[in-house]
Amino acid sequence: MTNTSVELCGIKLDNPVIPASGTFGFGYEFAELYDINCLGSFSFKGTTGEPRFGNDTPRIAECPSGMLNSVGLQNPGVDAVIAEELPKLAKVFSKPVMANISGFSVDEYRTVTKKLAESESASMIGWFEINISCPNVHGGGMSFGTDPAMASEVVRAVREVTDKPLIIKLTPNVTDICEMAKACEAAGADGISLINTLMGMRIDIKSKRPVLANVTGGYSGPAVLPVALRMVYQVSKAVGIPVAGMGGIASAEDVIEMMMAGATAVEVGAANLVDPFASKKIIEQLPQTMAKYGITSLSEIIGAAH
Ligand SMILES: Cc1cc2nc3c(=O)[nH]c(=O)nc-3n(C[C@H](O)[C@H](O)[C@H](O)COP(=O)(O)O)c2cc1C
Repeated sequence: MTNTSVELCGIKLDNPVIPASGTFGFGYEFAELYDINCLGSFSFKGTTGEPRFGNDTPRIAECPSGMLNSVGLQNPGVDAVIAEELPKLAKVFSKPVMANISGFSVDEYRTVTKKLAESESASMIGWFEINISCPNVHGGGMSFGTDPAMASEVVRAVREVTDKPLIIKLTPNVTDICEMAKACEAAGADGISLINTLMGMRIDIKSKRPVLANVTGGYSGPAVLPVALRMVYQVSKAVGIPVAGMGGIASAEDVIEMMMAGATAVEVGAANLVDPFASKKIIEQLPQTMAKYGITSLSEIIGAAH
C-alpha cells in the first residue's frame, strides 16, 4: 500500500496535488468534468477588493514547453466571490480550499482577507495564499514580492485579521529568493508557495510588435520546472515553515521530484489549461509511480534531496 497523504500547515491532505490559482477558476467549473474531491485541495482565482476585467487581449501566447499569460488578475471581486462563487463551490467540494488573495495596497490585502475570514464561507477556507507575486499588474502584485520590507508589511497586516494558516506566494523574479522567504517567515507566515510566473515576452515578426497587448507576461509550464525546483530546494532549506512547490508540474514524476526538492505540497498550473483532467490524472498516477520508485509514503520523501 502506498500512502499519498501529507500535512500542510496542520491540515491533512489526501494527496499533495493542488491546482494552482488562476488555472482552476473557482473549482465548480471543473466539477462539471469530474468529481473534484479527488484533489488534495485547490487554490481559487486570485481575488481582489474590486472586480477586475483584466488586461487587454491578446493576453495568452504559446511558447515551446510553456505559455505566457498576462491575464491581469481578472476576477469578480471579493464581495461577489463570497456571495456567488463560494456557495457554488460548496455544493461540489467538501475539502478545505486555498483562498488566493491579491492586492494593490497593504490595506487591500488586509480588507479582502478579513472579508473572507469573516464571511459565511470562512469554514471552507483551509489556508490563505497571499499572492505578492503577480507580474501582470502595475502598482501592486509583484512589487510587494520583490522588497522584503514590503512583503513583511503585507504579512503582518494579513496576520492581524485571521488565525488561519498564511501561505505567502513568492515571485521568482528576484535575485535572492531566500531573503524574501525568510522575511515572510519572520513576519508571521505559516508557509511559502513558489513559484509564480517568470516575466517574459514574445514578438510577432510580421507586425514587429509584442504578441501580448500588455507587452510582457508571465511564463510558466514544463520549461520552468528546473527553475522552480532550484528555488523550492533553496527556500525549503532556508526556512522552517512548509513550502508548496509549483512551476511546470505535469506528471506524478514531477510531483515526486518537487517533493524531494523540499515541497510539502505541489501546485499544478498551466497543465490544467492544456488538459482539464491533468490534476486528476497526476493523482491517479501517483500510487503506481511511487511503487515504481519504491516509495511507500510521500511525506517521507519531502526534502529527500537535501
Ligand atoms: C492563466 C494563468 C493565470 C494565473 N493567475 C494567477 C492568480 O490569479 N494568482 C496567482 O497567485 N497565480 C496565478 N497564476 C500563476 C500560477 O498559479 C502558477 O504559480 C504558475 O503558473 C506556475 O505554475 P505552472 O508552471 O504549473 O503554470 C496564473 C497562471 C496562469 C498560467
